Amino acid sequence: MVAVSNGTVLGYARIGRHMRIPANEHVLHFEALAVSPSARGRGVGSLLIGALIELARARGARKLGLRALSSNHGAISLYERHGFALEGRLSEEMRLPDGSFVDDLWFALPLHSGS
Ligand SMILES: CC(C)(COP(=O)(O)OP(=O)(O)OC[C@H]1O[C@@H](n2cnc3c(N)ncnc32)[C@H](O)[C@@H]1OP(=O)(O)O)[C@@H](O)C(=O)NCCC(=O)NCCS
Repeated sequence: MVAVSNGTVLGYARIGRHMRIPANEHVLHFEALAVSPSARGRGVGSLLIGALIELARARGARKLGLRALSSNHGAISLYERHGFALEGRLSEEMRLPDGSFVDDLWFALPLHSGS
């Protein structure tokens, strides 16, 4: 999914299968989400997230997952506003360029209504 305004790409996002096994075929995952630095803070990221949630629903997914670094507070608050909830934390899973370690957080949004 690509966000375009007046012929300029402002951002992109992608969903896909996390594990290519039949037992996990009801789950889709965010594989990418990025907005051009000059276009941030204007709702483009939010539009992309909303569009991917609808795409995941249209594809029949029961659950939409994503991963975020614990230091990425802006992205996390955006995901939470769209209904994603924390499901798991891999402690000190990633090392940043400055040498510090951060957790890898797993979020998910249930797309089913009941059963
Ligand atoms: C995370 C990311 C995709 C968010 O994109 P974005 O387009 O800035 O997101 P939005 O504009 O929808 O929302 C961001 C903020 O702008 C605010 N906002 C939304 N619409 C707005 C508007 N019309 N005017 C002013 N502010 C607005 C939102 O409320 C939000 O505020 P917050 O600071 O309280 O979170 C972007 O920062 C990015 O590309 N980061 C680098 C890559 C990255 O970290 N990707 C996620 C990996 S998990």
